[in-house]
Amino acid sequence: MSQTDHDRTLFEPASLGPLRLRNRVIKAATFEGVTPDGVVTDELIDFHRRVAAGGAAMTTVAYLSVAPEGRTGQGCLLLVPGAVEGLRRLTDAVHAEGALAAAQIGHAGPVANASSNRARSIAPGRMFNPLGARFTKAADEYDIARITSDYERGARLCVEGGFDSLEIHLGHNYLLSSFLSPKFNQRSDRWGGSLEHRARFARQVVGAVRGAVGDAVAVTAKLNMVDGYRGGLSLEDSLQVARWLEQDGALDAIELTGGSSLANPMYLFKGAAPVKEFCATLPWYLRGGFRLVGSKFLREYPYEEAYFLPMASQFREALEMPLILLGGISELATAQRGIAEGFEFVAMGRALLHDPGIIDDWQRGEHPVSGCIHCNRCMATIYSGTRCPLVDPRPGDAPIVVPDWAAERPVGV
Ligand SMILES: Cc1cc2nc3c(=O)[nH]c(=O)nc-3n(C[C@H](O)[C@H](O)[C@H](O)COP(=O)(O)O)c2cc1C
Repeated sequence: MSQTDHDRTLFEPASLGPLRLRNRVIKAATFEGVTPDGVVTDELIDFHRRVAAGGAAMTTVAYLSVAPEGRTGQGCLLLVPGAVEGLRRLTDAVHAEGALAAAQIGHAGPVANASSNRARSIAPGRMFNPLGARFTKAADEYDIARITSDYERGARLCVEGGFDSLEIHLGHNYLLSSFLSPKFNQRSDRWGGSLEHRARFARQVVGAVRGAVGDAVAVTAKLNMVDGYRGGLSLEDSLQVARWLEQDGALDAIELTGGSSLANPMYLFKGAAPVKEFCATLPWYLRGGFRLVGSKFLREYPYEEAYFLPMASQFREALEMPLILLGGISELATAQRGIAEGFEFVAMGRALLHDPGIIDDWQRGEHPVSGCIHCNRCMATIYSGTRCPLVDPRPGDAPIVVPDWAAERPVGV
């Protein structure tokens, strides 16, 4: 941590690689669910325009897949040349509001829904994916080389589409994160086994993306600190991975996350587990099984502000490079604390879904506590247009009981 860290404030402009951000708040990727055909829509543009107009310095477009089988499902943006024109409209709209645009690029690997994609999912090894009701293919040397060049190509398309920053997904057990996981990666070749081998694919992709786009845009990674289940990536190992990423020198910042979309999704979020709502989004043939195991799969964790801070602080201690604190930032004081603790930026997901204008409010000294109650019902809206059901209820939504402790909070806009 540099000597000047304690003097920094949330609302001052700050550098991220070649970029200058107007403040230190980044909208974290939250899958928007408004791209049914895998291309940019007006709804997607509006979603990010609102965030940009609300004061965040940069908004992250969630999850652009570098390959068809790497989509989470058919409603996921796919990085092909035909997508560039739409991406350009989106980034232009964000820029017009004075904010910057980041593209989260990735390959969902074992998290991909193979039946929706009509393409076999790829993972470190053969495994059953209940969501797509298919077995994954164990990546071979050809897949790894091809996906690496898919990342390069996808990254270049994002730059053509006007993005200022690229966030490489190294978390949540998407493909590169599943290679880091000792549980999912049980290979014995140069891509598995020791930590060095498990990290090889992620490091190769990060280096390739930087090589493909040069220094004109920022490149960051969203990295798991822990996978959140027995046998997953440990804190000790992810600290070492982060040190290697720092030494490799290809990244401008690391955003710290945790959890697994495959094995422990609630670890990402904390707060209430929307078991019933999530069940309703599944194909009929999965609902019966989900009713039985749903509360085990969506295991509940108590919510607290900045819930990843204790772990993230260990990365702050171990590394010199800029870090982005994420997870449970829904109060002005928490965001300020993150910056005071040496993080260059804070990233926010749910509080900005609840109210995209909260950053401007904070800057004006209003509403220092978000009205988000961490009911996590937004999770279940990702297939039909991601929204906060508390501020934007739709017919069919179950009523949400606002807990007593939150009764005084503003209910967004
Ligand atoms: C509805 C919803 C969708 C999300 N989609 C993504 C995604 O596509 N990619 C990703 O890396 N994280 C995704 N996340 C996780 C967020 O980026 C973030 O890590 C998490 O919400 C914790 O931050 P918060 O406490 O500020 O909400 C999603 C979260 C929510 C609530």
